[in-house]
Amino acid sequence: MVVKQRRVLFVCLGNICRSPLAEGVFRHHVKQAGLEEQIYVDSAGTANWHRGKKPDIRSIQTAQKHGIDISNQEARQLEDEDFEKFHYIVAMDSTNLANIQAKAPYLHTANVRLLLQDEQKDVPDPYYGANEGFDEVYELVRGGTYNFLQEIRDVMEPTEI
Ligand code: 4NP
Repeated sequence: MVVKQRRVLFVCLGNICRSPLAEGVFRHHVKQAGLEEQIYVDSAGTANWHRGKKPDIRSIQTAQKHGIDISNQEARQLEDEDFEKFHYIVAMDSTNLANIQAKAPYLHTANVRLLLQDEQKDVPDPYYGANEGFDEVYELVRGGTYNFLQEIRDVMEPTEI
């Protein structure tokens, strides 16, 4: 069977706190659903400040508390090619969304959206805050990525799922 792959890119500012968690948690949902071959997942930042770095230790530890290992991820910046490569580019907050849209080529195929699009809610930037901010990010990301996976499944062919 030919697998039609859906490619999803989660994007925040630095690609060390929120989008690595979103990538890890979404991948976990995908695995649980048995859709690893059908759905490709990655993350990136709108800024290049942390390029090549592992996720923030607080994100690694938050994921670990929930049995998810994100320690092998490496930060990278959003690139022009991502707008062709990915079907979905998912922003963590409305500033990320505006920055992604500003960077988007005039003609592109990616569906650019906010993670918590239905609620019109941001996943807040936890970088300069207390550790509890990471638990809040985890909860928002867990629910948001779960609902997003259901949305993707709804548009997949019945034979694929
Ligand atoms: P992220 O968080 O966008 O969720 O990865 C941040 C990481 C680093 C910075 C800001 C936000 N920073 O200013 O370096």
